Amino acid sequence: MGFLIIFSVFSLLVSFASATSVVDFCVADFNYPVTPAGYPCRDPVNLTADDFVFSGLGIPGNTSTTFGFAITLAIDRTFPALNGLGLSISRLDIAVGGSVPVHSHRVSEVILMVEGTIIAGFIGSDNVAYYRTLNRGDIMIFPHTLLHFQVNIGNSPALAFVSLNSQSPGFQTTTSSLAANDLPSDVVRRITVLDASQVQRLKRTFGGTN
Ligand SMILES: *[C@@H]1O[C@H](CO)[C@@H](O)[C@H](O)[C@H]1NC(C)=O
Ligand SMILES: *[C@@H]1O[C@H](CO)[C@@H](O)[C@H](O)[C@H]1NC(C)=O
Repeated sequence: MGFLIIFSVFSLLVSFASATSVVDFCVADFNYPVTPAGYPCRDPVNLTADDFVFSGLGIPGNTSTTFGFAITLAIDRTFPALNGLGLSISRLDIAVGGSVPVHSHRVSEVILMVEGTIIAGFIGSDNVAYYRTLNRGDIMIFPHTLLHFQVNIGNSPALAFVSLNSQSPGFQTTTSSLAANDLPSDVVRRITVLDASQVQRLKRTFGGTN
């Protein structure tokens, strides 16, 4: 048993070392669990050009959501060819009046505006807010880990593409992270400046308990 585990770990380490140094690519094999270095590689003999193509970013996402935005992800889980390559790209649709709530990722993001007008920005760790109106053709960078947001201020839906320098960038929204779980309301109240009724409203909105 111990030998088996050590052998499996060693095999995984070998495939990860290969993924970053001596192979051209490492299309994810979901038969194995993810590790900090990504997934092990599928056998290249089974791969075709189709494995390196993701279709679907031409289709608008459904923005009938709490904040009025939709993100269509081309990340490792949806596009396994990205495994180990340290990048991803996604489609962002924001309805009229909608926004992407303040959130952060493990890595940096660049946004390319295609349609509409938004205010986008990020907040430095010194609490300086860097925000601006973006229109078609504008790009903006959101540096790694910093809180950032997008707000549709136009009269039409906004369309943008975002690329992040990880195949699995993570997405953590500040408000829903506080409320969409079983963290006791009294704790939420004490670690914010919200009052009890505001905490209850957040819990209801995001499906939290306690
Ligand atoms: C992958 O290729 C190997 C060798 O050609 C073959 O034995 C195996 O069945 C293939 N696996 C899949 C999932 O197609
Ligand atoms: C969009 O999502 C809403 C809420 O989940 C749903 O009611 C609606 O049918 C969806 N629209 C489309 C076109 O899928």
